[in-house]
Amino acid sequence: MAIEWSAAAREFHLRNDQVSYVIRVLENGSLGHVYFGAALAEGKSYGHLVPGEFYGFSNRLGQAVPLEFPTGGTGDYRIPALALELPDGSGVLDLRYKSHRILPGKPVLPGLPSTYVDTGVEAETLEITASDHVAQIEVRLLYTIYHDRPVIVRGARIVNSGPSPVVVRGVMSASLDLPDSDWELISLSGEWARECHVERLALRPGRQSVSSTRGASGHQHNPFVALARRATTEEHGEAFGFSLVYSGNFLIEGEVDSFGTTRMRAGINPEGFSWLLDPGAEFITPEAVLAYSGGGLGELSEAYHLLFRERLTGPAWRDRDRPVVINNWEATYFDFDEQKLLAIASAAHDLGIESFVLDDGWFGRRNDDTTSLGDWQVNHAKLPGGLESLARKVEEIGLRFGIWIEPEMISHHSELFAQHPDWPIGLPTRPRTEGRNQYVLDMSRPEVVDYLFGVVSAVIGSAPISFVKWDMNRNITEPFSPTLPAWRQGEFMHRYILGVYSLYLRLTRAFPEVLFESCAGGGGRFDPGMLAFAPQAWTSDDTDAVERLKIQWGTSLPYPLSSMSAHVSAVPNHQVGRITPLSMRAAVAFFGVFGYELDPTVLSAGERAEIADQVAFYKKWRDLFQRGRFLRLLSPFEGERDQTAWMTVARDARTAVVGHYRILSRPNPGPQRLRLRGLDPAASYRVSTWPTPAEVPGRPARQVLLGGDELMAAGLVLESNRASAEQGDFRARLYVLEAS
Ligand code: GLA
Repeated sequence: MAIEWSAAAREFHLRNDQVSYVIRVLENGSLGHVYFGAALAEGKSYGHLVPGEFYGFSNRLGQAVPLEFPTGGTGDYRIPALALELPDGSGVLDLRYKSHRILPGKPVLPGLPSTYVDTGVEAETLEITASDHVAQIEVRLLYTIYHDRPVIVRGARIVNSGPSPVVVRGVMSASLDLPDSDWELISLSGEWARECHVERLALRPGRQSVSSTRGASGHQHNPFVALARRATTEEHGEAFGFSLVYSGNFLIEGEVDSFGTTRMRAGINPEGFSWLLDPGAEFITPEAVLAYSGGGLGELSEAYHLLFRERLTGPAWRDRDRPVVINNWEATYFDFDEQKLLAIASAAHDLGIESFVLDDGWFGRRNDDTTSLGDWQVNHAKLPGGLESLARKVEEIGLRFGIWIEPEMISHHSELFAQHPDWPIGLPTRPRTEGRNQYVLDMSRPEVVDYLFGVVSAVIGSAPISFVKWDMNRNITEPFSPTLPAWRQGEFMHRYILGVYSLYLRLTRAFPEVLFESCAGGGGRFDPGMLAFAPQAWTSDDTDAVERLKIQWGTSLPYPLSSMSAHVSAVPNHQVGRITPLSMRAAVAFFGVFGYELDPTVLSAGERAEIADQVAFYKKWRDLFQRGRFLRLLSPFEGERDQTAWMTVARDARTAVVGHYRILSRPNPGPQRLRLRGLDPAASYRVSTWPTPAEVPGRPARQVLLGGDELMAAGLVLESNRASAEQGDFRARLYVLEAS
């Protein structure tokens, strides 16, 4: 890995064995973009790749020049990376190279979550300073390259070096000019209970984007986009990834210009945003993670999975086993008392489950969703001995204890509201819009964050609590803070999320042993910003196995299995009413951080035995399910959509678990083989299935020792298509591969 600067060619070349990123200081001093993609040889100039000589913002042919951090007003009419309102009211900006530094490692971003290094030698950072001497603005562009990852982490710092205030109207974390537009844009879009559905559409002239204006990244779009060639599959072809380490209003946008080039940009959504920069003040963008793969979407995902698991998730939990949890939400909703909870915990313990998480309803007078958010004092009517007594009893049973909390929220009917009626977000001149009967606290106010740190710390400190599920169940309306002057109201949404980050940082520092799980009505804030504090997230409120195939498939594009909380729930499913076999529900939820969301006290003996077997199976293969290499095989979004398959392979390729899911049964199916990936072609694998099929007298024994070469080239003959007696809708079969 190296960052080279050639003074003669005026070029920067960031490279490792997997990728190269080339920047050139143009003749007029602007920062030109030359190349991002597969690694190129070092010690050479690549400036000639950009056709024509540079004359300002267009070349000799009048074509737009690829730029690193484009601005408006001097001839580049495409989407800018930075838009300012200068003291004279103009927005013309012309950034020219001033200086640069190459730093070992990666600097910490104050106030914002970011990827990090463990040692200074694993990455290098280039900081280029560009300035506009008329506007008296300095921009520091940051590029980090790790020695062994196909990613470039980017961000920017905007400094007002003039004597008057300047307004930032929009600032991106990264902008990338690509030389053609022969790409399909893949986004993860959806709604509550159907998050992260994969959308794939060819780029066309003009702009196309995903974004949020909700104050959270949102269920509707995830802050991740991939560009893939039309022919790119999971296994083959080129792909770029754009991921924003941010949990608030974001924008990831592409623009295809009249010459068929593509500009991508990613950053805080400029819609509704402005930021006043006083003289000397600096604005720091969240960071964007750009990735390149020449080996399909699978390789792109692998780059994000490893980076997010190893260098975004905080060190305290990144390498540790995540417990198998039982959560009481779908088992009881608000209707519980200590006896009921202990009965659940005790039954769960008999099944091998490791942690009990007490969900909504333990505090204030909360017996439905109309009251008490903000009153984080235990409800003694339900839990007479308080949290401590309950937690100790749960621990005596043999489980760890965890708790649900929604710190950013406040109910109208709450003591907190009576004490601080001005803390909920809203305008004094308008009624506040309610969502799920609740308001959002003004997290831009330091006193609110301080207060919450105090009460949440008191809750966590009051009992042996080892797990916190931090929920956030509605989006922001009437964005406004009375503590900000009129000309700073455009800062509100970003200040809100900075407040959330500050609370997360303080709490995770104060309680490093506690495992935090983020949640926002399921996957409404499943983003890299949250992962920096909470190593896992509740993937979706939808626990139906069939729906989860799509949700988990889409979520896995950027996010690792270790971040996806996935539970088995009761049937008929509470979100869609579907009845799927218990084995199918587990076989889907295994591929993530596994748990249960049902009442184990009402199970039949047969179901209890099945669940005990599931928990034991997950624990046996936990390392594979939480840290293996995840490979998607058959997409629920493609083909006839009646099946899905994926697998996880150990880092040394000695073991693997393959999941194959048949959604609707087919009459008279033909034989089917599933080609696996990521195995050792020279190894022989013992193949066993889960659930273990009942012995069928007279059926020839299945061949159980198969070569890695055969499994990858010819494929695995699927059991589910061989035995007609096993047919039926919603069937899952797992194949465990162990190298002998
Ligand atoms: C949200 C969460 C659920 C549950 C409820 C409790 O919807 O996503 O898992 O915690 O809140 O009110």
